[in-house]
Amino acid sequence: MKQAIQITENMYWVGVHDFNCRHFHGNMFPIEDGTTYNAYLIIDKEITVIDTVEAEFMDIMLERIRSVIGKRKVDNIIIQHAEPDHSGGFLRFMQEYPNAVPYASNAGAQIMLKQYFKDYAYHKVKTLDEINTGSYTLTFIEMPLIHWPDNMMTYVKEAHVLFSNDAFGQHIAGYELYDDKYTLNKCLEKAKEYYANIVMPYGDRVKKKLQDITELNLEIDMIAPSHGIIWRTYINELLEAYMDYATMKPENKVVIVYESIWRHTQDMAEALAEGIGQGGVAVRVYKESETSSALIMSELLNAKALLVGSGCYNNEIASNISGFLTKLSTCHIKNKKALGFGSYGWFRNTTAQINERLQACGFELLSDQLLAQNYTPSQDDLSALEALGQEIANSIKNEAE
Ligand SMILES: Cc1cc2nc3c(=O)[nH]c(=O)nc-3n(C[C@H](O)[C@H](O)[C@H](O)COP(=O)(O)O)c2cc1C
Ligand SMILES: [Fe+2]
Ligand SMILES: [Fe+2]
Repeated sequence: MKQAIQITENMYWVGVHDFNCRHFHGNMFPIEDGTTYNAYLIIDKEITVIDTVEAEFMDIMLERIRSVIGKRKVDNIIIQHAEPDHSGGFLRFMQEYPNAVPYASNAGAQIMLKQYFKDYAYHKVKTLDEINTGSYTLTFIEMPLIHWPDNMMTYVKEAHVLFSNDAFGQHIAGYELYDDKYTLNKCLEKAKEYYANIVMPYGDRVKKKLQDITELNLEIDMIAPSHGIIWRTYINELLEAYMDYATMKPENKVVIVYESIWRHTQDMAEALAEGIGQGGVAVRVYKESETSSALIMSELLNAKALLVGSGCYNNEIASNISGFLTKLSTCHIKNKKALGFGSYGWFRNTTAQINERLQACGFELLSDQLLAQNYTPSQDDLSALEALGQEIANSIKNEAE
């Protein structure tokens, strides 16, 4: 029998674990050890549920709700986000609790109708609208495009709890629901990875929303997101880290991402890395096809520079590197430099194309050298790349923070 887990007085976690999830949101975000879809139950004169879970797990969520309220009925259902990982169980929920009043943002109500067709007379709420459930006041704070047009948070002022939906999520799937059951480092690493893979394109909005929240002067003892653990001990560190993520605050680190069939581009990557490493700057080197895209995005978020390499195949950039560049083009890159490189046989344009695409993504080019290598790099070519790596390291170290 599945049980709810109490998170504070009168409030319960009624979410589910998806232990086998390895690809979050299709192929967008490979994860290693599962996730959770968090939903919450607030017991008061009126009973409120915040979000549902993916449709296939809905029986579990209902069992957790019943473990607290038995045959009592739910009065309010808050749809903080219409994406199916949080709304997929909604139809089933309404069968179980047909008199529950659904609340959503204006965009949320529209998306629910487009996805589930039936109009449940959604009560549309805006930022700072409130509902009172007896002794608790639920205040809504819209956060459009973090990460769909409809996302919103719900703040309970009497309990100092902020239900933050997709913001501040991470993929930690356990029964220890609180941040302090894990190290600060682990929690922030996971939050960063989540941010880099799901939220990065919306950095400007995140920054603005963080400022709004600060201005609202909310007392927050607990941040309860819709994926992963609940924050209660590391809240200050989390908010500070989120501002760094939102502004892509760089560290002295270079990320090299490449694809290579006959090792020529790989040898170039490794020579550049050697020079950067000898120059005293952190460097990460990833063959794209062999590396989790989640790791690459996470390392890139706080890197100062990116080097992208590809061999030339059928007169084109390798398709996975092209896909990677397409992903970068959505990220509104700020404060980062980049350079392309690669080996070709009889069509020299690939490196120049990579450079063009990097500039279109918002990167400033690190150098005006065109690192286009004809077939195998010689020892002299590799030494020149090492020297360039050292130059890159020096320029990065000398840049004002
Ligand atoms: C499947 C395949 C297709 C290729 N097509 C082209 C091409 O259209 N134009 C070109 O200049 N070189 C082409 N080449 C040659 C490679 O670009 C060249 O061998 C380069 O050194 C490969 O670098 P790598 O070892 O990093 O993969 C092709 C190589 C392969 C394996
Ligand atoms: Fe979402
Ligand atoms: Fe989500």
